[in-house]
Amino acid sequence: MTSDSSTRSPFSEAQTPAVSVNIEGLSKNFGDLVVLRDITLKVESGEIFVLMGPSGSGKSVLLKHIVGLEQPTAGRVLVDNRDATDPATREQVRMALVFQAGALFNSLSVYDNLALYPRENRLASEDGIQEKVMRALQILSLEGKAQKFPSELSGGMKKRVAIARALVMEPQLMMYDEPTSELDPIMSATISEIIATLKDEYHVTTIVVSHDRDLALNIADRVGILMGGKLAAIAPPAELRASTDPRIQDFLNPRIDLKNPRFKHLET
Ligand SMILES: Nc1ncnc2c1ncn2[C@@H]1O[C@H](COP(=O)(O)OP(=O)(O)O)[C@@H](O)[C@H]1O
Ligand SMILES: [Mg+2]
Repeated sequence: MTSDSSTRSPFSEAQTPAVSVNIEGLSKNFGDLVVLRDITLKVESGEIFVLMGPSGSGKSVLLKHIVGLEQPTAGRVLVDNRDATDPATREQVRMALVFQAGALFNSLSVYDNLALYPRENRLASEDGIQEKVMRALQILSLEGKAQKFPSELSGGMKKRVAIARALVMEPQLMMYDEPTSELDPIMSATISEIIATLKDEYHVTTIVVSHDRDLALNIADRVGILMGGKLAAIAPPAELRASTDPRIQDFLNPRIDLKNPRFKHLET
């Protein structure tokens, strides 16, 4: 362990190494609907992996397998070499999932939203919890918002509160589901920067599900593109940009063909 503050976890007393995620031959069906087909992927400890793919391609379903909220139809998911569906894994590995909508409790202040998890799990005394909560708020530049209620905050601020709440869990693995959806380009860039900073400074393994091409190409160590239940590509951003695979290029650079009769109403 180093004493250099730039490489310490936000909660130095609880420092633990980042963890890897191994997805091995994962398939998932819901009845007749086949969502994931034999996916194999290793996310390395300390990596930022961004999973892209069209709507409905199974990105959120894949995340839910990592946190143990879904059971594989076939194959398995290992987090830190432990089965994700084993309840003991969630006790031994600290994972945080930042949901698309943020999922804040509207009846609780920002402070109480952040304090809820450590209070319920008796992770620290009230003084200790206050310290963790204030540190997380500070990291996200939200110190002044502790007593606000979610309804009083902008969309971008709510996302930051949701990230701060995840940080309070002192995660070894941070996952984000569409963290920049519904945000303007500047706020999206800010959130992307925050995700990258948290990973760089605290070495937390990071998996981001996102439609946001700029986010993916700017912060990912590697990007995976999920299509038709399979990973159509897994590559670092520079390699993806250079890909000659038309499916990848169409996905990264979608073009609206105004000659297509579907868009007739858009013609000027
Ligand atoms: N619990 C469920 N039961 C049945 N179908 C589901 C369930 N969860 C997701 N699906 C279906 O699986 C597909 C992938 O969903 P999802 O992972 O949410 O897509 P996205 O890539 O947009 O996140 C969709 O067709 C969705 O309707
Ligand atoms: Mg989704």
